[in-house]
Amino acid sequence: MSDQVNNAGDTVLVTGAAMGIGRGVAEVLTAEGKNLVLFDKDGEALEATAKALGGKHAIKVGSVTDLSDCEAAVQLAVDRFGGLGGVSHNAGIQTYGDAVTTTPELWAKTLDVNLTGGFYVAKAAMPELRRNKGAIVLTASVQGMAAQKGALAYVVSKHGLIGLVTGMAMDEAANGVRVLGVAPGSVETPMLRWAINLDPNPKALDDEIDAMHPIGRRGQPREIGEVIAFLLSDKASFMTGETVRVDGGMLARIPGAPRKADQ
Ligand SMILES: NC(=O)c1ccc[n+]([C@@H]2O[C@H](COP(=O)([O-])OP(=O)(O)OC[C@H]3O[C@@H](n4cnc5c(N)ncnc54)[C@H](O)[C@@H]3O)[C@@H](O)[C@H]2O)c1
Repeated sequence: MSDQVNNAGDTVLVTGAAMGIGRGVAEVLTAEGKNLVLFDKDGEALEATAKALGGKHAIKVGSVTDLSDCEAAVQLAVDRFGGLGGVSHNAGIQTYGDAVTTTPELWAKTLDVNLTGGFYVAKAAMPELRRNKGAIVLTASVQGMAAQKGALAYVVSKHGLIGLVTGMAMDEAANGVRVLGVAPGSVETPMLRWAINLDPNPKALDDEIDAMHPIGRRGQPREIGEVIAFLLSDKASFMTGETVRVDGGMLARIPGAPRKADQ
């Protein structure tokens, strides 16, 4: 315990930290001087990210679908930094299928990673968050509020995450823990790139994705990270139980209105 310092309030657990939105969150929080536990199942990418962030953060390679991995990540925050004051949960997978084409296995896997993973991370972190009057932000999606065709299990998992935000916010308010969510629109990450490349005409889809957002473009991981950093901070001290859209205006558009950004 010799390197333990009492920085619980300034210590944040970031899941899905190796790339994409989680990495964007880690970049913003690093610039704010936070201590981080970076948690991801992809060990190689996680180590590269930790190195790029200056090598001062703790890393935990594991899966959010394994409660003992989540508990070990929290314990790492206690051992290295004296406790945990915040959580940004971003680990997730994109899957596709409708009620007929979604196999029971794909359904279970999607719910396991995206929804049960969020529950396990919160469950493992909550005693520390209560002790330090902390906050947790779950990364849901605009698909937790509306739906794209052919992504049924994903849509359900993200609606469930927003329910997890609402329910835990009520349970934890009296314990001094704030529980919040973000609902990003399309964000330039390896997940989005993978999804675009499944399409027979990725270039056309790329343009269409930008035009889906009234702001005229997709988001960048750090733009989600900035909002999450705000929600975790004392500046958001009167917020709990809310899931904030960070979607370039996507869900604010009147249905059927022209989709081109310049129209
Ligand atoms: N990119 C988008 O357009 C977008 C939009 C809305 C919501 N989201 C959500 O944001 C979150 C991050 O998405 P992204 O685009 O950055 O994805 P990404 O695939 O680029 O990165 C996700 C990270 O999570 C990790 N991960 C996946 N399963 C894990 C598990 N079981 N345990 C630990 N780590 C695991 C991956 O290894 C990866 O590093 C996801 O929950 C996603 O659903 C993304």
